[in-house]
Amino acid sequence: MTTAIPERLPVRSGPRRLPTGANPYATAAARVMRVTDLVPDVRLFDFRFTDPALAEAFSFRPGQFVMLSVLGVGEAPFSLPSSPTRRGYFQLGIRRAGSVTGYLFDNVREGDVVGIRGPLGNGFPVEKFEKQDVLMVAGGLGMVPLRGLLHYLIDLRDRFGRVILLYGSRSPEQVLFREELESIARRGDAEVLLSVDNASGHPWSGRVGVVTQLLDDIQLDVSRTYAVACGPPIFYKFMMEKLVERHFAKDRIYLSLERRMECGVGKCGHCAVGYTFTCLHGPVFTFWDAINLPELIYE
Ligand SMILES: Cc1cc2nc3c(=O)[nH]c(=O)nc-3n(C[C@H](O)[C@H](O)[C@H](O)COP(=O)(O)OP(=O)(O)OC[C@H]3O[C@@H](n4cnc5c(N)ncnc54)[C@H](O)[C@@H]3O)c2cc1C
Ligand code: FES
Repeated sequence: MTTAIPERLPVRSGPRRLPTGANPYATAAARVMRVTDLVPDVRLFDFRFTDPALAEAFSFRPGQFVMLSVLGVGEAPFSLPSSPTRRGYFQLGIRRAGSVTGYLFDNVREGDVVGIRGPLGNGFPVEKFEKQDVLMVAGGLGMVPLRGLLHYLIDLRDRFGRVILLYGSRSPEQVLFREELESIARRGDAEVLLSVDNASGHPWSGRVGVVTQLLDDIQLDVSRTYAVACGPPIFYKFMMEKLVERHFAKDRIYLSLERRMECGVGKCGHCAVGYTFTCLHGPVFTFWDAINLPELIYE
């Protein structure tokens, strides 16, 4: 199967033409096709653009994000947890946080229409991962962008070596995509190790402890492995230490980072760290980039 993945986006300082419109601030209408409760306060929304041509043509790179807007409420960035290998629709995994997300939870149902612009940001350098092992490490909601990458790697399985996912959550009832991940592991499409900080009161056969401990459970050839990490700031602090301890080169570790964003296209400066715009040059960075711009990880 051949899949059209956009070239890694060039670094530019201004707005660019997006699939959702020549004006990068213009939104395209997308209809909510399905809403699924994942865990308390996190929902998976399936969308399809109302323009059938755009719906079929819309492609992106795992790790990119879109801006979702609701008229009269606001706009917010969300990662894409679906894969460009599965055409015709896209998904967003959304946690209730404030005004836009609260409105989505309380008012938006199947059949409703929202505004979308994107895809935005750089995404993961998936070409580099070909013929290499890929170790994904996720903490909490960090599983959302990594689920898009996981589907991509599985759909194009013979292009990649080992695909490993280590994913830590607070408790068993907070594990996103749990059934799906267990089924992926059973089928042998990927090696999946799950951990929770605390399992009391819930059936749980995975590890109990912090997600970094899962790294001790696997053998890796770091010379042919890329690590991709996504999670909250505290997760990065300990996970980066652990990966470096395991002798990963800093430019073989990729992180997906969240900053406050407004325009998403390198214009407003809200997401800037020095001369780096996380909306344009990120949200994916190497650990090497991150240690040279420390505020990228720790604000
Ligand atoms: C690249 C990127 C990808 C993202 N992907 C997802 C995703 O897949 N799923 C998801 O649920 N959320 C994601 N987010 C976070 C989401 O965009 C914010 O939570 C957003 O503020 C929600 O909008 P709101 O109007 O509901 O909340 P608001 O009313 O804007 O704010 C809610 C609270 O969150 C705080 N806040 C806002 N933005 C951030 C931020 N970037 N970091 C820390 N605190 C913040 C505000 O100060 C406020 O306290 C992503 C953010 C970025 C930058
Ligand atoms: S969000 Fe406006 S420059 Fe990045």
